[in-house]
Amino acid sequence: MTKHIDEAYRILAANDRGGYTVPTDRLYPFQWNWDSAFVAMGFATYDISRAYRELERLIEGQWATGMIPHIVFHQPSDTYFPGPDVWRTNHSIPTSGITQPPVFGIALRVVHEAALKAGTDNAAARTLALFHAGLRWHRWWYTARDPDGTGLVALLHPWESGSDNSPAWDTALARVPTTTDTAVVRKDTGHVDAAMRPRDEDYRRFIHLVDTYAACGWDPVRQWEKTPFKIAEVQTTGILLKAGEDLEYIAKSLGLTAEAEELSRYNDLTRGALLAQWRPALSRFVSRDLVSGEDIDAPTQAGFIPLLALDLDGDLANAAVAEMKLWSRDMRVAFPTTKPFSESWEPKRYWRGPAWAIINWLLIDGLNRNNQPDMAEALRVSTINAIEAEGFAEYFDPTTGDGCGGLGFSWTAAAYLNLLQTGQA
Ligand code: GLC
Repeated sequence: MTKHIDEAYRILAANDRGGYTVPTDRLYPFQWNWDSAFVAMGFATYDISRAYRELERLIEGQWATGMIPHIVFHQPSDTYFPGPDVWRTNHSIPTSGITQPPVFGIALRVVHEAALKAGTDNAAARTLALFHAGLRWHRWWYTARDPDGTGLVALLHPWESGSDNSPAWDTALARVPTTTDTAVVRKDTGHVDAAMRPRDEDYRRFIHLVDTYAACGWDPVRQWEKTPFKIAEVQTTGILLKAGEDLEYIAKSLGLTAEAEELSRYNDLTRGALLAQWRPALSRFVSRDLVSGEDIDAPTQAGFIPLLALDLDGDLANAAVAEMKLWSRDMRVAFPTTKPFSESWEPKRYWRGPAWAIINWLLIDGLNRNNQPDMAEALRVSTINAIEAEGFAEYFDPTTGDGCGGLGFSWTAAAYLNLLQTGQA
């Protein structure tokens, strides 16, 4: 165990580029939004000042609109496509133009509480500045990505989900043309096996959407009107609600009454909306395609992420867990990101089957919240064992346990440190 803890520290140090951490060398050479939030929680287990720094560097990329972009390009690199020239966002620190799941507020509470416990210098001031950035981002979600006030927030690009290549996007993505204004020069398949990465055709669709939004000048109102891809999504909304609860908690603890009330209103709205996405016949939550108006019933891990933010009735929680057990049966490593042996199941292609330590982390928290300690513990042990057997891989083939994708991965190291700590609690 100590050997693996040291290796986790070593990976986080090796991926440090000056106060921020790249997900892994070469394949992802910049600062990624939700990766950094997980990494900050990893740092909070042993270096609180560095944990704050990770979040502070991330918000250097925050837009005037409040959006925190999915990539901040602090320094140039030629090992990644699409770079700043494709995004054309005109931000003073170059950034992408889309966002990623708002784990930020969850991370801020973890870092803040660790700082209070340890008596870290300047903790209150550092938390306060980050809290305001987080609040501005939540306001952006509720205006730009839910203009009709439904309580569910929408994604305009598959990459905003963090589950970039999930079968949940297949139907909506098929409507997006494969034509692009930008030449598509993939770099990812030079770093890892193409069989683990998205298909070329889908990559052209991803870039078509970037071209479309760049032509809208990245104006959220124009993007909302123009886009062929608009999904009210339960994984992101579940994370937003949990982060909203954590920001509300911080606001109260800092005596920010008006801010706490504002967050409480958002959270109440979303709690009801998310619960309404439960489908008893499927024993999970589903997202909605806002262009077709239909449920997206592709079986993916996203259907269980709302447990993170909801206190479900016992029957409902038991039904979700029974379904999760069914998916995990006979797997060497849980939890598969697509239901095993379903039509779109591919155990090695990313987000179409593999198990990810950070997804497990969110699921474990959701299971514990909903009084499911056995399943939570089984998942925790499964994740730790996979990492100790195969190293800090980007993700794991659930059928063989093989570590896949990029290696020396920051968020896998952070998840390991966090999951070990949860076990000691
Ligand atoms: C991939 C993942 C995304 C992650 C990024 C960096 O694009 O799909 O969730 O943030 O890699 O690790």
